[in-house]
Amino acid sequence: MYVAEEFRRECEKLVKRCAKECGEVTLEIPPEEIGADLSLPCFKFSRNPAEFAARLTECINRRLSADSLVKTAKHAGAYVNFYVNHEVYCDRTVREIIKLNELYGGERKRKGRIGIDFSSPNIAKPFSVGHLRSTVIGQSLYNIFSFLGYRCIGDNHLGDWGTQFGVLIAAYKKWGSEAELKKRPIQHALELYVKFHKEMERKPELAEEAKRWFKKLEEGDREVRELWKLFVKLSLEEFEKIYAMLNVKFDLTLGESFYHREAKRLVSELLNCGIAEKSEGAVIIPLEEYNLPPLVIQKSDESTLYATRDLAAIKFRLERFKPEKIIYVVGSEQKLYFKQLFAAVEKIRRRSNLLKLAERCELVHVDFGLVTLGGAKLSTRKGRIVLLEDILNKAVEKALKIIEEKNPALENKEEIARDIGVGSVIFSDLKQDRVHNVDFDFERMLSFEGDTCPRILYAHTRACSILRRAGKKISMKRAFRYESEEEIKLIKKLSEFPLVVKLSAETCKPHHIAQYLLEVVDRFNDFYSRHRVIGSGRENERLALVRATKIVLGNGLKLLNIKPVEVM
Ligand code: ARG
Repeated sequence: MYVAEEFRRECEKLVKRCAKECGEVTLEIPPEEIGADLSLPCFKFSRNPAEFAARLTECINRRLSADSLVKTAKHAGAYVNFYVNHEVYCDRTVREIIKLNELYGGERKRKGRIGIDFSSPNIAKPFSVGHLRSTVIGQSLYNIFSFLGYRCIGDNHLGDWGTQFGVLIAAYKKWGSEAELKKRPIQHALELYVKFHKEMERKPELAEEAKRWFKKLEEGDREVRELWKLFVKLSLEEFEKIYAMLNVKFDLTLGESFYHREAKRLVSELLNCGIAEKSEGAVIIPLEEYNLPPLVIQKSDESTLYATRDLAAIKFRLERFKPEKIIYVVGSEQKLYFKQLFAAVEKIRRRSNLLKLAERCELVHVDFGLVTLGGAKLSTRKGRIVLLEDILNKAVEKALKIIEEKNPALENKEEIARDIGVGSVIFSDLKQDRVHNVDFDFERMLSFEGDTCPRILYAHTRACSILRRAGKKISMKRAFRYESEEEIKLIKKLSEFPLVVKLSAETCKPHHIAQYLLEVVDRFNDFYSRHRVIGSGRENERLALVRATKIVLGNGLKLLNIKPVEVM
């Protein structure tokens, strides 16, 4: 157990020992101006809470010992405020961080499996900024859960199946060029789609043609299948460039196509057992009992849909991995869809044997808002699609320009600019609650002031440089003693890291970590702008504190999938 957790536990124990009748004890973090570390509101324990708090405080103080993490309790009105024993708390926190190093904040106990469905772009379509958000949030959640001891299975559920491939193949057969496709696969595919849809306005019979091609693909026609494979391969090569830049990895890239046969089977099984029914030629799962519109699982032309393949994917994942949770990192425009999907799973589980394992698996839609660029909404139709690679490249370019200005003699400029640029894009997404929209503003996100990635990286490189310059080993022999307000505040902040990591996992929200890192940087800046480290007479404990800060910043950045650069 981490020191901060132990402190809380000790406070709880003291309360329980002094007031057995209290039952569940919930300690709160008091507002900063109170100056206390935890507090217990006593309103629900007595008609006269102030008197109760006073008596409780007295009893608690009688039970404290010198080596306790709790220094004292004081009552203020109806509250009992707890104060940390700085001497013990600070020494133990810094020691713990240095000892655990890369593992600080995580948990060693092995836990269950979690499936994370993220990124999931569509083949032969541009990798959108929405997919960037899914990729960045998904990878961070993957890192966070793994850090806490879960075994994660990251699955890139590619959109590589569906009637739109009939359109693409039909159009390619008419106007496509293999050379063009190899040179610029996604743009060429896009042109073909657009042309086909335009033609269809004049010749509606083309729709039938597209359907025929898709049918051939579904039936496994050799030639069509080869062509489809080529689209998949070329698109993936494009996506890989982005994944490499972002340092993103998957355990599986199965895609919707992997499930198309099982999806068909599922439709007939669901019809057989009466869970699904025919409706105007289509097949649906009614969801009135959940107050939701029905989930369509087969079109009138007998092709399956996105939803059908998702149901098949859930079945596969449950059987193969027995996860305790599956997380879908997908934009909030699919909120209703996931409600329907999860309700359908629930219905199938209760009324058949098909998805029995779902009982022990929580399905979560981790949704997120839109992306804007300098305030303007991005939309495909208005031609304001922005290629993701361009965003990343632009950020890297700007980072390089800043380095050229600030530190032209730096070695490995290109590499560091890349880390800063990419990190800045990631951070400007992860710093706010994912449900909000994000705005990519290059000037702001690369600034060294405000809530930005360069500011955190800069503090990290500062800490690294102090440690490098000192060039000494930190002695762990004697207790570390800290007296100044700045030191104590910084250490208390560092001690919160494990709690923040857990909070991020519970809420599936990495921004708690991002915001926390900014707070650490503030406290660190306060500390070293006021206190000398090297040659200060307190060098050993201050170096230990710098080292602890470097560790926390580094661990936090890694959870966000940002590389903690050491010089810049
Ligand atoms: N390819 C889909 C899209 O771009 C996202 C897939 C999300 N994952 C899932 N299992 N439905 O909208």
